Amino acid sequence: METRSSEPLPGTSDLFADECAAWRLLENAAHHLFPLYGYGELRTPIFERTEVFLHSIGDETDIVQKEMYTFEDRGGRSLTLRPEGTAGVMRALVNQGFSQGEEKRVYYLGPMFRGERPAAGRKRQFHQVGTECVGKIAPEIDVETIAMLIAYLSAVGIGPSHTQLRINSRGVAEDRIPVAEALREHFTNVTSSLCEDCQRRLTTNVWRILDCKIESCQPFINAAPSTTELLGQSSRDYFAEVCAGLDALGIAYHVDPRLVRGLDYYAHTVFEIVFDGIGAQNSIAGGGRYQILPPGATTPVDGVGFAAGMERLLLSRDQLGAAASPAEQVDVYLVSMGKAAMRQNLCLAAQLRSRGVSVLMDLEGRGMRAQMRAANKVNAPYTMILGESELQQGVILCKNMTTSEQVELPIPEAPANLAARLGRS
Ligand code: HAM
Repeated sequence: METRSSEPLPGTSDLFADECAAWRLLENAAHHLFPLYGYGELRTPIFERTEVFLHSIGDETDIVQKEMYTFEDRGGRSLTLRPEGTAGVMRALVNQGFSQGEEKRVYYLGPMFRGERPAAGRKRQFHQVGTECVGKIAPEIDVETIAMLIAYLSAVGIGPSHTQLRINSRGVAEDRIPVAEALREHFTNVTSSLCEDCQRRLTTNVWRILDCKIESCQPFINAAPSTTELLGQSSRDYFAEVCAGLDALGIAYHVDPRLVRGLDYYAHTVFEIVFDGIGAQNSIAGGGRYQILPPGATTPVDGVGFAAGMERLLLSRDQLGAAASPAEQVDVYLVSMGKAAMRQNLCLAAQLRSRGVSVLMDLEGRGMRAQMRAANKVNAPYTMILGESELQQGVILCKNMTTSEQVELPIPEAPANLAARLGRS
């Protein structure tokens, strides 16, 4: 489809102040909540060497096969815009000398890139908020991670009664061979009825067939043996402990033996949170326990974490009619008659801003009517008017735009007085 040259590319967006207010609500909740669980922020680069993603996400995944934005830089290196956060976090931790057995807790926020077909809730540049607890293996850490995700969703206005938590176990590496054999035996009987991708997956990564969304594959997927029941005893015990921990915390969940997730690094617990009512892209967050061998590491590192899609969180909030976040609010518009008044108002604006009051003012020397129109347009609760006679008397008029009440304030007292009226002092 042709787009105008001023339009953002398909699957990307410009976000103006009105929308940014809601984004900041999601960001602020993350900065507030995750440190309460001992997590510190980590900002990794937006592009990495391609190998950082290739092996950890999995050569056979849709992300690596079809969706990564990979390019060669001028030095002939293959680079990739990060399609997710976990692989870069692990690379960064290993680079800091981190190794298995220690524990490190980090959270991150920011843009990710996948070349998917754009749709409602599916973008090419999208944003994730996520956490990783790295270095230790214990079912309770998985439980705490899920509980923290649910607390985060509640903090942004998406309570548990509106979502469904689906969980499953992918077991440890040794379990995957017998499970894969059982699945291959089942699907081999119906090969010709499977979609092209699934026919390929039959030889490359048979688990991924369970994740196929193509309608014609669903009857065969539904008839497949339950992977959870085919896992070895220790994996099943681990999963039972995760379920018991969720029960103890009163967290409702649905065990879904078809849940495999689209990344290959998972081992043991996998989970997804679904919100109905935002269309087909209804998975608002996903995660699980994983094992990754980042480039430069000699032994694999274990971790557990999640990422929530921020666009989908905002769609869910809208669906719930969550109170629109306040857009950028201007507290006061300063009207100046004449150059000397404008200079005085520039000083006043600086003093007001230093008290946390947001200010707009006319800087073009327009007439009184034009300035009052501008004040009405920004919908500021107060307007302050400084004419020549006020300037001579050392006072400024302060008008409450809701009640039209007007008071005269001595100029030196005006910043503190207005800040108090706005509850900023
Ligand atoms: P993921 O399931 O690929 O997992 O992505 C997590 C979330 O990102 C999804 O549930 C969805 O809300 C959002 N998302 C993914 N793709 C798009 C898209 N094209 N447009 C809009 N939103 C999207 C991961 O990325 C793992 N790194 C999660 C994880 C962290 N596992 C362990 N630690």
